[in-house]
Order: sequence, then structure tokens, then C-alpha cells
Amino acid sequence: MSSSADYTIAVLGGDGIGPEVTSVAQAVLDAGLRAAGRTAEFVPGLLGGVAIDAVGTPLPAETVELCRRSDAALCGAVGGPKWDELPYAQRPGTGGLLPIRRDFGLFANVRPVRNLVPAGSPLGEVGFDFVVVRESAGGAYFTATRGQDVVQGQRHAYDLIEYRADEIERVVDFACRLARSRNKKVTSVDKANVLESSVLWRSVASEVFARYPDLEANHLYVDNASMQFVIDPGQFDVVVTENVFGDILSDIGAGLMGSLGLAPSATLNDERWGLYEPVHGTAPDIAGTGVANPIAAVLSAALLARHSLDEPRVAAAIERAVEAVVLAGDLPADLASDRAEVLSTEELGARLVGEIGGR
Ligand code: IPM
Ligand code: MN
Repeated sequence: MSSSADYTIAVLGGDGIGPEVTSVAQAVLDAGLRAAGRTAEFVPGLLGGVAIDAVGTPLPAETVELCRRSDAALCGAVGGPKWDELPYAQRPGTGGLLPIRRDFGLFANVRPVRNLVPAGSPLGEVGFDFVVVRESAGGAYFTATRGQDVVQGQRHAYDLIEYRADEIERVVDFACRLARSRNKKVTSVDKANVLESSVLWRSVASEVFARYPDLEANHLYVDNASMQFVIDPGQFDVVVTENVFGDILSDIGAGLMGSLGLAPSATLNDERWGLYEPVHGTAPDIAGTGVANPIAAVLSAALLARHSLDEPRVAAAIERAVEAVVLAGDLPADLASDRAEVLSTEELGARLVGEIGGR
């Protein structure tokens, strides 16, 4: 890319509310970078249903190319009822997002869970600030041993949870390094009392833990971990787990925050290239009405600055701006209580940009 900017960021808005929240995230990231004396070129690309409608495939070759020449990708969300009936490889999520995770080797899905808006959290003032690291390039999502057939006259289906030791090792190691930069505690979650894949998971996790004697490390079964998330989330710092368990646990985490609209994510490979997207979906029911909460997308942009651009100060400035705005009671519709002023997606974006610019 012939650009004089410091960074090139692919912007894949996707479907439903995706483009609305992504454009706010882009504006806030741009403001944060400018305030730090950096420049970025934001290059739009097609992913998901919009790509299917425009060029007939959820992940066009041009989008893969764009990602390859970018420092990171900022994503909205993909999917919607319109494309739900398409075959697996042609749907927005399974044919668009999952191939990016696989082809770019994005094995570490980082999903922070923090009580940012206590008034909106079902746990109220209970404090929690932890990160779910979900393995995101293996397990049942990517197994070749999947399918549907007929067994004993019955329709029958299967998706094998399978892991090689090196796939477990790299994500647990990632989690340990992250814990080292945080509160020095790591929890590995599995179902080793029942599943063979979890027996291997626990054994490899223990080997990795042994390399980090400075960390407090433990193992929990996934059923117990789900309960602990709800009754005592303050005990966690970094939680690492396999793909399906992490999918479910990270949504429980989003529930603790009070709204999916607050939950950001980063999905990284070992070169620090990443796909940054809100955990929430495309919310077709509110698309175009201007009420979508852009905070998850904005916090994903902060993760992008931290993990892919190595701009921790820009990341912190964006996070502080979000904190200041929600503390002032400027909330989007999904979080607003009676006394709060309800801001539209764009108004909230303008408040955040203003906050970063020092206005
Ligand atoms: C997520 C989503 C995806 C997943 C879907 C859309 C394929 O639920 O990012 O958590 O299951 O990984
Ligand atoms: Mn999910």
C-alpha cells in the first residue's frame, strides 16, 4: 500500500449495526492516534452478508489481500436472518469470520470482562476486571471430523473436540504472558473429569504453568467456572479455555457487564496481527435506528492500539475516554436508566472523540 500513514487499518463494517458502531470506533481510534502524533489510513473492505450481496462470497479475495497488507482489522459484526439458510461455507459467520481466524492463525481470542457500568451490571457494585482468553483456531470449530449422516436409521451428527499439545501450549502460554502484565493470576478451564481432550488440556496447561512460577495458577471445571463467574467474578484475572467453552464463558462475561454492547474482543496470531470486533452480533432489529451501543466496538479499537500497534498510551486514552463518558451518565439506550441522558450512536461517538481531543 502506497501510504505515508504510520499504520494501515482494514475496516470491515459487516452487517446490521456493524457499520454504525465500526465507524464510531474508527473515528475514536483516529482521534486517539492523532492526539499521540500518529496517523492511520483506514481502508474499507467487505466481509459477511454485505460481501455475499455485493460479490457472492462472505470473504472475498480482495478482503483477504487487504487484511494481509494491513496492520490489523477493525470489524463490526456479520450475519443476519437473510443469510441464515445458506450452506455452512457460504454463511457470513462460518464462511467469513471463521476462515479469517483459521487462515491468519488467530488462536488467541482476548475478551476483557470488567464492571465498567455498575448501574447496568446485574451484580451492581461488585468489582471484577478479568480477561477470557478463548482458544479460537482449533477444537470443534475447526475439526475435519464433523458431519451429518444416518446411523441405525436415525439422523446423526458430530463435531469432534480435538487438540494437539502445541495448540494448547501456545494459547496457555499467551494467557500466562498476559497474566504477567496484569494481576499475575491465571485460571485454566476444562472438563478433565469427563473429556479426553480436556485431560490433555489440563496436562499441557500444568506444564506451561510450571514455566511461570511467579504466577498464581489454578484449574477449574467448566461447569464450576460458569458458576464462579456469576457468584464471585472478582477472583479471576486471566481465564484460558478451549474454543466452545470460551464462546459460552465469554457471553456469560458479557452478561456480567450488563450488556453485550460493552464487550470488546481481539483475536490475535503470534505476529500480533489481529481482528478486533465487538462480541455482540449484528442486531438487525435495531440496525439503522441510531441507538446501537458503540462502546464494545470502541473498546475493541483500544485493544487494537494496544496489541497490534503497540500504542499502549493510545489504548489507555480511549479506555479513559469511555470511562469518563459513562461516569458522566452519558449512556446509550441499552444502558440508560431513568436519570441518564440517552445518547445515540453518533452522539456518543462525538462525546468520545471530544473527550480524547481534550474538549
Ligand atoms: C463469537 C461468535 C462466533 C463464534 C460466531 C458468529 C461464528 O459467536 O465470536 O463469539 O461462535 O465464534
Ligand atoms: Mn459467541
